[in-house]
Amino acid sequence: MVKKRVTKQTLRRRRAVALLILLLIIVGIILLANSCSDKKESSGKKSSSDKKIAQTTVPLNTQPLQQNNSITITTAFGNISDIQTTEPMNETTTADDGNKVESITLTFYATNLKVGEKKMPIVTMSPSSATDKSELWESSNTTIATVDQRGDILGVSPGTCYITVKSKSNPEVYAEVKVTVIADEEEPELTLTSSSESGATYIKGILIVNKSYSLPEDYNPGLDPTTKSQFDLLSADAKKEGLDIHLSSGFRSYDYQKRIYNNYVNAYGQATADTFSARPGHSEHQTGLAIDVNSIDDSFASTPESAWLESNAHKYGFIIRYPKGKEDITGYKYESWHIRYLGVDTATAVYNSGLTLEEYLGVNSKYNG
Ligand code: DAL
Ligand code: ZN
Repeated sequence: MVKKRVTKQTLRRRRAVALLILLLIIVGIILLANSCSDKKESSGKKSSSDKKIAQTTVPLNTQPLQQNNSITITTAFGNISDIQTTEPMNETTTADDGNKVESITLTFYATNLKVGEKKMPIVTMSPSSATDKSELWESSNTTIATVDQRGDILGVSPGTCYITVKSKSNPEVYAEVKVTVIADEEEPELTLTSSSESGATYIKGILIVNKSYSLPEDYNPGLDPTTKSQFDLLSADAKKEGLDIHLSSGFRSYDYQKRIYNNYVNAYGQATADTFSARPGHSEHQTGLAIDVNSIDDSFASTPESAWLESNAHKYGFIIRYPKGKEDITGYKYESWHIRYLGVDTATAVYNSGLTLEEYLGVNSKYNG
């Protein structure tokens, strides 16, 4: 074996080189270790089986993303792979928050319904800038009341249940209506096409009272509670817009109408009185479903309250019963102040049709004698 002579100087040089390499390796390891722990601090902590080594760089969000999102895994050895996810992920956290529904308000939160009767609250979702204001309606007990996806609530059988409306885009936001359904044995004719058994005539389930159709002297129901509560809502909503719409005349008995009508006949003669005042038994006020508002005279027509009523009454279930230009059909001169409760569905249908109630039901309004 040949032993190679190495000078002391060569030995020193080799040791210095070895030391330098060792130093470089140590520095490299420290730098890599630091880079791994920095990224851990800012991680969205989506998922990683070993967080000391790797974590996702996908932020934790609230809005669902489409499928097949790419996640980059960062490890101590660099970015090693892109993983295609199959589960829904979430996108930028707060960008969409301003467009989500944050609250729901209704025009009523409790209601009484007769079996077969329908009612629909008006829904307001806020903020108005919310992009998806879709509604999800649900009944806590469909044997008592059902609800369709427009929010039309139908009384099915006596009892109490809750109807809930949720925001489709943000289901944590909801509002509730307590619904009490009551039996309606006293008025079975409501469901008939046409009936006058009790002396009151219903056509398509609607009580009709005009010059052709009358009520018996003892028909004395008082102001209908639903008519009153819907009017109160209407009045409250008008007030929010700075308008004063108040009840001036509601239910009028046969006898009271007789006194009013006779006074007008004495003052103006029967022919004139018949153009604006109903004969006893022929006034809608005796149904308990009609209301005169504010001044009960022609001056009301030029007020902002009258304009608001024209545009909005149907949303609460009322129609302007004696419209302008329809005197020959209704039998009465224009009464901007007289509203009749029909329920939201029917009132909206009549409003949209542009017809009077007589035209809508296909009836006349003329006295026999
Ligand atoms: N003014 C209406 C027609 C009534 O007397 O009932
Ligand atoms: Zn009236």
